[in-house]
Amino acid sequence: MPVRRIILDTDVAMGAPGSDIDDGFALALCVDLADQTLELVTTVNGNIDVETSTLLALHLLERLGKTEIPVVKGARTPLRRPLHDHPARDRVADVRESLAGRKPAPGRAATAIVDHVLANPGEITIVAIGPLTNVAIALSLEPELATAVKEIVIMGGAFMRTTSQLSMPGEFNIWIDPEAAAIVLNSGAPLRFIGLDVTMQVELDRADADRLIATGRPFATYAGQCAHAWIDYLREAYPGKEFLTASMHDPLAVAVVSRPHLVTWRPARVEVEVTSDITRGVTVADLLASRHPPEPNCLVATEVDSAAFIEYFLNHVYSL
Ligand code: RIB
Ligand code: CA
Repeated sequence: MPVRRIILDTDVAMGAPGSDIDDGFALALCVDLADQTLELVTTVNGNIDVETSTLLALHLLERLGKTEIPVVKGARTPLRRPLHDHPARDRVADVRESLAGRKPAPGRAATAIVDHVLANPGEITIVAIGPLTNVAIALSLEPELATAVKEIVIMGGAFMRTTSQLSMPGEFNIWIDPEAAAIVLNSGAPLRFIGLDVTMQVELDRADADRLIATGRPFATYAGQCAHAWIDYLREAYPGKEFLTASMHDPLAVAVVSRPHLVTWRPARVEVEVTSDITRGVTVADLLASRHPPEPNCLVATEVDSAAFIEYFLNHVYSL
């Protein structure tokens, strides 16, 4: 199996209180897999503001001993939508102060993505685990990207369900920037989607977090502490849901790049809602079952081997 060469586009927020931790775990998994090489990290506004996400990406790569991997800052806002008021907003100053002095590589995410993919046609996989703003800008800057990229694997969407949340009817990454998702869906690039249908089935619980801390390993210990803090936040923010776990949305998207068998794939025609606020960011997947089906534009994951993924994932993260 050839080594997969990766650009990770992320709204990483692990380390900022009240922010999702899954991007941090995805980054860790990406640098640890022998059959994937992480060649570039680009950051995007999403879980947290892009400035802080960029500092956190640099900090996590230090913890992982991978400071040679370049981090390039990306979009500060969605293409058209207002900035999302993320939960960590009132503690960002402390996080930034604690990470002061770190500097990303020069340039901006969209051009860094275009340059790296066009310099290596057919070789680079973009793994997009935040809102698709950077990827959409890159595809708009250089439409050739759609044929030069090996594929784009996206954590985003919900295809066989909704979020059941009127304040966010679409899955977060798509809901933040639905216009960007529409550009990516209509680009003609080879796309694979890992949506909430499967990521809500791959969960880290407090016992896993305790085991991560018990390793005494530099990253695993820190990640275990962040996992407990995130579950605490979820229980406080969503009292009606009785959260006992944290979903590993983004690590599953990283894992399926070189281990596609972890999930079941279906060809689909996916469209995204960008006009109505009531259904903003809702993704509809036509699974091509009708007599005259539409042209497919992606593969969507419909089932996951949760136990296999969690075992595979934790076995890697425990050692970091
Ligand atoms: O809906 C889950 C996605 O939104 C994940 O990528 C998580 O990190 C957040 O960005
Ligand atoms: Ca993310």
